[in-house]
Amino acid sequence: MDSVELAGGQLGAVLTAPRGGMAPLAPGGPWLATTPALVKEVLTDPERFDFPGDVSRGSDLSGSRGETRTGHTLYSPVPAAAVSRGSDVFGSEWRTALAEHEHVRADEPYDAMQLLRRPVARSTTSAVLPHLDTATRDAVGDLVLDWIDALAPVIASHRPPRRWTRIRRAETAARVALEDFLASVRGLEQTPQQVATMLAAGIQVPIAAGAFLLAWSGAHRDEPDADPVHVVWETLRLTSPSWITARVTTRRVEIGGATIPAGRVVFASPLLLGRFPELVPGDPSEIASFDPTRWQTHEQRPGAWLPFGAGPHMCPGRNLGIAQLTTVAQWASAFEISLSEHVSIDQSRGIAPSPCRFTVTPRRSSSP
Ligand code: HEM
Repeated sequence: MDSVELAGGQLGAVLTAPRGGMAPLAPGGPWLATTPALVKEVLTDPERFDFPGDVSRGSDLSGSRGETRTGHTLYSPVPAAAVSRGSDVFGSEWRTALAEHEHVRADEPYDAMQLLRRPVARSTTSAVLPHLDTATRDAVGDLVLDWIDALAPVIASHRPPRRWTRIRRAETAARVALEDFLASVRGLEQTPQQVATMLAAGIQVPIAAGAFLLAWSGAHRDEPDADPVHVVWETLRLTSPSWITARVTTRRVEIGGATIPAGRVVFASPLLLGRFPELVPGDPSEIASFDPTRWQTHEQRPGAWLPFGAGPHMCPGRNLGIAQLTTVAQWASAFEISLSEHVSIDQSRGIAPSPCRFTVTPRRSSSP
């Protein structure tokens, strides 16, 4: 797998930024918070650091000006019963996806990003909209996947595509199809637009995170007995798909040795914090290595690098995401995973492993 540490582009710029304060990534911004305290300050003070208006382009480091999303929606955490339901659905849909692959394409490698699509889509939809019957849930899940696919080229394009370009029209059509369908569903507690956003966030990210988990399991086969939960945390430490998040200053702000004018973009990166020795147990010289066993020590709490954010926009689907990924890690622990080719890191929308194909052989039991 590509090394994140050696990645160029936006990832490289963030990981190599000088640490200790607010680092300008270009003259005049945007700025990057480079200490745990500054990251917390940026994420937890919406009076000074507001959520950006256009979340779809939140990882675009080129923009140093932005608009804030005033009157923005706050999402409540997915309740425990819904997490449990979504987790059950994930388990059964994951088994179905594996069986289908064996049935239809047994001689081909698994494609992690494909394999995870429906299990995650149906699981997250079941948790967010627990009252839907199975057919409606599956239809919603498929429409969200269509929208996520149509959004990809919009987010990946260098400049925001204009309204009437083909890719913008395709994205609008997919979003409207989803929102119209949601509008016909009875009992929604939020607007169709809000539910669509929640579902897209809660489907795209776990698909990429699950694929990274499988990629790491293939790249590091030397830890067969690692606790699946530790495998999840280690994946989210080194390659969280939501690796960077943006806020916009609402006024002139003095912070971390910098004076930032109003309306400028400020970034916080869980991926950067995940490489801070004070937040991660183990030998600091090995901090970039994938080693789930480091979490056996209980010296530090996993998650201190904020893979789910913090403050009012913290991820409401944290527990569901962890449950989905733990199921994948448990499954992976029963197999030797062999990556079929080199895995690169696609930075076009968050980060995702691409391609991520693999084959499996059952692991021989380690017990005597
Ligand atoms: C492993 C899986 C996941 C990871 C790593 C993750 C990570 C994150 C992060 C870092 C944020 C904060 C973004 C920010 O502060 O700008 C976030 C926000 C969000 N996440 Fe997740 N997430 C995951 C799963 C989910 C799931 C399963 C759902 C839905 C059930 C979900 C729904 C959301 C929503 C709606 C937001 C936006 C919150 C807001 O704007 O107030 N996420 N997520």
